[in-house]
Amino acid sequence: MDDVKEMHRALLAWYDDEKRDLPWRHTHDPYAIWVSEIMLQQTQVATVIPYYHRWLARFPTVQALAEADDQDVLAQWQGLGYYRRCRLLLEGARFVAEKNDWPQSAEEWRKVPGVGPYTAGAITSIAFNQPTPLVDGNVERVFSRLTACRDSGPQLKKSAWTWAEGVTPHKRPGDWNQALMELGATVCKPGAPLCGACPLIKKCEAHRQGVQNELPIGGKKEQAVELTHLCWVPIHNDRFGIRQITTGEWWAGMWEFPRVTNSCPQPHWLQSAEIHEVGVIKHMVTKHKIKLVISLAYLTNQLPELRWLTLSELESVALPAPQRKVLRLALAHIRAEQPLLF
Ligand code: ADE
Repeated sequence: MDDVKEMHRALLAWYDDEKRDLPWRHTHDPYAIWVSEIMLQQTQVATVIPYYHRWLARFPTVQALAEADDQDVLAQWQGLGYYRRCRLLLEGARFVAEKNDWPQSAEEWRKVPGVGPYTAGAITSIAFNQPTPLVDGNVERVFSRLTACRDSGPQLKKSAWTWAEGVTPHKRPGDWNQALMELGATVCKPGAPLCGACPLIKKCEAHRQGVQNELPIGGKKEQAVELTHLCWVPIHNDRFGIRQITTGEWWAGMWEFPRVTNSCPQPHWLQSAEIHEVGVIKHMVTKHKIKLVISLAYLTNQLPELRWLTLSELESVALPAPQRKVLRLALAHIRAEQPLLF
């Protein structure tokens, strides 16, 4: 028990001295913490910071978000990727706003759409000072090394949760949780940790055994699946044709230039279009490495199945990041071919 107390003291003292000055560490507003924690899932701190500020300026409260237009919300998320997080955050905000009170415990928070055990632990400990544990990839790694636990995959996650439940303090639980994640992000890094800078070095079983570089076990990334998609930028006079992405597809609800997998039938209207191939863009979506082959499709009429927008109208529509790149590439070509069009 004294050992755990000593671990609390050492890690919290280190956190007080060494923590990064991050914008969400200046607030206890549950909504702001919630937004930051959702943005930080899958996205690096440096990328999140400007989005976090813009988001809170645009949607300063959970009510403001709940009442916002879906398209405005998606447009604010544009470029952060993994848009499911954004749709669920909006759904969650509407759920909470309707109840007119914050959920009171981690268990209650978990009923909010998009809030899993990690996010529930983060919000209740950081915003409400409740001694609820949390485990993310950083905490799993710190745990695995501190205890020299050789579990991997779901078993490691389970063991880390059990450990975290046992060590989360009643005093400063939010700082404790953040300190564990901070240690994992800045000192107890994947591969070779910086043990010389670690406040818990004396308590670390992996270090004692000299196996810190081997832990946690596994963690090898799955091989990416390679796909080729064909994408056309339909142009008629000074307008571009886009389609809304349907439910069940990546980026549902956002907009894109028509795109198909290369093994699927191509749109019928290509036959009457003048096609200019402009290049290739490569990007990753979850475990998929996608090669997008892009062409301009000059049309003699506006196809009714597409929405036709001017360039300035396109700027304010929610386009996924790779589609913004498609637009940039298309514009460079159009401007070279037809300098007077845009
Ligand atoms: N990663 C995600 N949320 C974090 C937080 N609040 N502190 C440190 N690392 C984090």
